[in-house]
Amino acid sequence: MAVTIRSLTGEEIEAAIPALAALRIAVFAEWPYLYDGDLAYEEGYLREFAAAPDAVLVAAMDGERIIGAATASPMAAQKEEFRRPFEERSLATQDMFYFGESVLLPEYRGQGIGHAFFDHREAQASKCGAQTACFAAVVRPADHPDRPADYRPLDAFWQARGYEKVPGFETGLAWKDHRDAAETEKLMQYWMRTL
Ligand SMILES: CC(C)(COP(=O)(O)OP(=O)(O)OC[C@H]1O[C@@H](n2cnc3c(N)ncnc32)[C@H](O)[C@@H]1OP(=O)(O)O)[C@@H](O)C(=O)NCCC(=O)NCCS
Repeated sequence: MAVTIRSLTGEEIEAAIPALAALRIAVFAEWPYLYDGDLAYEEGYLREFAAAPDAVLVAAMDGERIIGAATASPMAAQKEEFRRPFEERSLATQDMFYFGESVLLPEYRGQGIGHAFFDHREAQASKCGAQTACFAAVVRPADHPDRPADYRPLDAFWQARGYEKVPGFETGLAWKDHRDAAETEKLMQYWMRTL
């Protein structure tokens, strides 16, 4: 069955939250996230995200099943740690959109769904009057023991979509890796483009 892409907003997002939470845990368990996720925490995080005005959840569906998703919402609605690199430089965030994540089950990759996720999120950002879009990607040491030998970084894809790393714009985000006993803070590098 062909995959369809739908942008969900407002109350439509609520119904998709349990599926999206499970998807995040499954996809982010892998490199480079290695995230030991918790369903209850995920659902709470996603509810907070969905409550932001103009938030969008782009869902990839195989029939009725959500097999991938991407999120976006205004930067001004993000948590302090995501706004920090901009606010500490007194940069206005009201014209910026923040892209939260793209997660797609491995068997559906390489068919252009990742491009569709960007197309839909950029369309929502533009529709809501944003001038720029950004996201933050985890930075792992090159010699990390869990790095798969055949891993292809997404940097070339992001650059082809018009995004560039913003030097010095970084934040810290804590989560528990599968191999660890407690949360550790990860370095998150910002990427941005003008819309
Ligand atoms: C990011 C993700 C959603 C992209 O999905 P996708 O549907 O495979 O992407 P597309 O098919 O649209 O391909 C996008 C580009 O990435 C490239 N690409 C394809 N497979 C790739 C791979 N395994 N690794 C790196 N890049 C890859 C393609 O060459 C393509 O570029 P092209 O247009 O020049 O051909 C998917 O890889 C994923 O879920 N990854 C794990 C989670 C993650 O890292 N998310 C990003 C940060 S939140």
